[in-house]
Amino acid sequence: MTVSFDLTGRTALITGAGQGVGAGIAATLAAAGAKVYVNDLVPARAAAAADELIAVGGAAEPLAFDVTDHEAVVGALQRVGGVDILVNNAGNAGGDGWPGMVPFVQTAPSEWAPFLQVNLFGVMHCVHSALPYMIERRWGRIITIMSDAGRVGEPNMAAYAAAKAGAAALTRSVAHEVGRYGITANNIALGTMRTPLSEARWATITPEESKVVLQRYLVRRPGNPDDVAGLALFLASGAGEWVTAQTYPVNGGYSVAL
Ligand SMILES: NC(=O)c1ccc[n+]([C@@H]2O[C@H](COP(=O)([O-])OP(=O)(O)OC[C@H]3O[C@@H](n4cnc5c(N)ncnc54)[C@H](O)[C@@H]3O)[C@@H](O)[C@H]2O)c1
Repeated sequence: MTVSFDLTGRTALITGAGQGVGAGIAATLAAAGAKVYVNDLVPARAAAAADELIAVGGAAEPLAFDVTDHEAVVGALQRVGGVDILVNNAGNAGGDGWPGMVPFVQTAPSEWAPFLQVNLFGVMHCVHSALPYMIERRWGRIITIMSDAGRVGEPNMAAYAAAKAGAAALTRSVAHEVGRYGITANNIALGTMRTPLSEARWATITPEESKVVLQRYLVRRPGNPDDVAGLALFLASGAGEWVTAQTYPVNGGYSVAL
């Protein structure tokens, strides 16, 4: 067997791909030959990101919808006739931007829902809607972008961590059900990234605070979308065929530095 990272003839839906990590994965899968459906909640973001891929010779189409809206997700998958590769990347830190980290005991139940809606239920809607097409084709790839907060726990981020851990468990459980159809499902757990989501935090952090954060990373810098895209391509391709039901940290060595 020849190891192949070629995605020619494959279709891929990347959620929340209008910017940040999702945009990086979309660019890499498109460069490998996939036709990429660029999803985002913000239609202008999806359109601009798709245009960028097309401008460099990629095959791309914007597909704006809210991953928390079950009917919208079902409708989008119907419109494109299903996809071969689903990357569950859309996520939030409980609202726009980075609303801050609060001890769990100081949070109210009403504040937990925004974390769960996107980071857990969004993944549930997308996987549930995409799977029937993959099962029929006897081929599929599901990749869920989760967080080290969900993998190892993180103070002051309990609701976010719980939602991410739930999505990862859902992904691994589904892998058990569909491996026999040629479908793999894996998680990528990210450490601290520098993307629009966390930019406000990086922009206001003092050099001393930055040093404290980065000391926990063997590679002394935050991650960027390109750091994630290579593993996503491996998992999405033929090369990743015998890799499933796993969670892979991409985190500059964060956990071992603790
Ligand atoms: N930035 C970090 O430090 C970090 C760390 C660990 C994990 N992650 C995870 O990586 C993923 C990508 O994060 P990012 O930093 O690129 O974020 P980002 O905010 O820069 O980009 C996320 C995109 O998702 C879109 N989106 C949000 N809610 C949506 C919804 N309901 N439906 C469709 N699209 C939606 C947003 O409009 C945005 O364009 C997320 O799942 C996030 O939780 C990020």
